[in-house]
Amino acid sequence: MGKNCWCGSGLPHEACHKAIEDKMRELRAQGYRLPNKRLIKNAAQIEGCREAGRINAMVLDKVAENIRIGMSTQDIDDIVHSYTKELGGIPATLGFEGYPKSVCTSVNDQVCHGIPSKKVILQEGDIVNVDCTTVYNGFVGDASRMFCLGEISENAKKLVETTREAVDIAVSHLKPYCHLGDIGYYINKHARENGFHVVRDIGGHGVGLSMHEDPYVCHIGRLGHGILLIPGMIFTIEPMINETSGDFWMDEQDGWGIYTVDGTLSAQVEYMILITEDGYEILSK
Ligand code: MF3
Ligand code: CO
Ligand code: CO
Repeated sequence: MGKNCWCGSGLPHEACHKAIEDKMRELRAQGYRLPNKRLIKNAAQIEGCREAGRINAMVLDKVAENIRIGMSTQDIDDIVHSYTKELGGIPATLGFEGYPKSVCTSVNDQVCHGIPSKKVILQEGDIVNVDCTTVYNGFVGDASRMFCLGEISENAKKLVETTREAVDIAVSHLKPYCHLGDIGYYINKHARENGFHVVRDIGGHGVGLSMHEDPYVCHIGRLGHGILLIPGMIFTIEPMINETSGDFWMDEQDGWGIYTVDGTLSAQVEYMILITEDGYEILSK
């Protein structure tokens, strides 16, 4: 009898990841770069991540139903906190490396990691990213959406649309054994074609067993470059796209808030993705 698979499924290797491992070995011999096989999740882990992603999206749905002009970003935090708990989850960011809140709310020129505050009141014309991360049954779901309040400017509309489209385009090209660099290639291409700028130094990440795992997913990339994406890998795609420049600065006061250099707008959309044997599955969006 053969030994059990390294993925921890408890199944004999032959009946589990042998075919994938053989394929990886063959590709490596051809000169391709492959991820460490620890980044490949087993069936039980995938199911756990799927559930966490589903719960996380329900929290974002709750925000979508309730977000409105006049509300503070702390009100969003309250909604996320209480609904996550109601669903049996834990807000993953609360206490993460000292982060004080249950969600990130990044308004207008805030690129990401906006800390919810009673002082930040949503106004007509604002664009706001709400980034939810949920621990459910030990697994982590992560996704974010843009919300537009009332009438927004033409340029804000175009930025938000371009960011959503960029993620959808990149995702549509995902397939097993494609390159990690393809993601950043398609995102950056779409942003540039619309006159916008991608943030290079803050990216997506593996996710599922913890909030931030390998690989780092850069949103500027080269087609056919980087490691190959293997069935069972779970990661986020979450580009931040800015109006005038990909540069940013960090608020040293709160230690978290990231802002565009010149005060112009930034948008972000985050999906949590599983690479499957025949394509991909969006686990949270
Ligand atoms: N949800 C964020 C991400 O997409 C992580 C937030 S970390 C925090 O990676 F500490 F800033 F909340
Ligand atoms: Co993320
Ligand atoms: Co996130």
